[in-house]
Amino acid sequence: MTENRSHDMPRGAVLSVVDVAKTFTLHLQESQRLPVLSGLTFDVPRGACVVLGGESGAGKSTVMKMIYGSYGADSGRILLSHQGTVMDLAVALPREVLAARRETVGYVSQFLRAVPRVPAIDVVAEPLLERGVDRTTALDRAGALLARLSIPERLWKLPPATFSGGEQQRVNVARGFIIDRPLLLLDEPTASLDARNRAVVIELIQESLGRGSGMLAIFHDADVREAVADAMVDVQSFTPAREGVTA
Ligand SMILES: Nc1ncnc2c1ncn2[C@@H]1O[C@H](COP(=O)(O)OP(=O)(O)OP(=O)(O)O)[C@@H](O)[C@H]1O
Ligand SMILES: [Mg+2]
Repeated sequence: MTENRSHDMPRGAVLSVVDVAKTFTLHLQESQRLPVLSGLTFDVPRGACVVLGGESGAGKSTVMKMIYGSYGADSGRILLSHQGTVMDLAVALPREVLAARRETVGYVSQFLRAVPRVPAIDVVAEPLLERGVDRTTALDRAGALLARLSIPERLWKLPPATFSGGEQQRVNVARGFIIDRPLLLLDEPTASLDARNRAVVIELIQESLGRGSGMLAIFHDADVREAVADAMVDVQSFTPAREGVTA
């Protein structure tokens, strides 16, 4: 059950993470415990881009997966402003998580998980089709976005499984930006892109921020970070000492 705790949501925030902890249990290693995060606290205001920093393995992607509901949190609150109410994603039911994903939270993951045999243009158009937009309009808009990201038209009807890393990433980005959501999670969306396509992604981010979306992002490239970051969260400062790993 989701409690309505709107009094806990800071004004103007789309996301409020409060005192979240996460430890992985490594079942293949005699149930060793790997503490990754503790006391994680930050907000994402509407229309702002918050960037997660910290070295590889610090737990940046883990933070995003908890917000997207793919990983549970051990404790703390992950408050999402969802359709006029506040949902605590740390305790939300699976169907509530799915509703949040449909309406409120988008996620451009580090790697595209392409469904076999689905053409690239359909992968991109799918979020529009799910919202009931007619097929012709949806495919037109998907094509426009793919063209903007320099995906040649001959690739649009092919499944992305055989695309290059950078082409897959651009399909993934197009899918993430085809609809505006109140919160968009971006996990290294420009890591394998050239400067020209990085610039297009920066534009897409800025346009979406301008329409009021909040963003939580991880960027490999300092130029992208500097162009769009309104605030930084150093995930490493919420990482317990790894020497403390206990059986
Ligand atoms: N499902 C899992 N099971 C066990 N350990 C995990 C799991 N997911 C992540 N980890 C561990 O948690 C730590 C944080 O991983 P995470 O992927 O969040 O790091 P990251 O900051 O995103 O790193 P990178 O910059 O390399 O993408 C790592 O030590 C990783 O091995
Ligand atoms: Mg990562």
